[in-house]
Amino acid sequence: MLKWVVVAAALVAAPFAASAQDVEAGAGVFKKCAACHQIGAEAKNGLGPSLQCVAGKAAGHHEGFAYSDAVKNSGITWTDENLLHWMEKDDAVIKGNKMIFPAGIKNEEDRVNLLAYIKSTCKE
Ligand code: HEC
Repeated sequence: MLKWVVVAAALVAAPFAASAQDVEAGAGVFKKCAACHQIGAEAKNGLGPSLQCVAGKAAGHHEGFAYSDAVKNSGITWTDENLLHWMEKDDAVIKGNKMIFPAGIKNEEDRVNLLAYIKSTCKE
């Protein structure tokens, strides 16, 4: 019994322990998104939709944000893979979307850290 408790605790703790640094680095990368996006419990829609708890959700799910038809009708779920790809080249994920971020996040480590940060703020 005790053995299983220890194993379970390790499984739960591991992602957080491993990603504390990544999350901090990701918060720095998020500055590139912050002109348009808010994140965190109090996040509101701005030029772009709130990114609070966006991971795992359907694209275009935030009430009150005027998404493009391209996003609304994309049928895409924000899996890790789709989010990472979107950060790099959003047009390749949903063609004709209205997010204006042509530079993308070129560095893979930056993308991974940014994803860790985005997920870390969601306590749902
Ligand atoms: C110049 C403003 C701007 C910047 C900078 C920007 N975005 Fe966006 N983003 C938008 C807009 C506008 C949309 C809505 C697109 C649409 O409806 O076609 C959007 C949509 C999104 C979505 C889809 C959200 C949903 O609810 O489906 C994600 C995820 C996203 N952005 C992530 C990011 C990340 C991560 C960054 C930083 C690397 C970033 N964005 C930078 C304006 C921006």
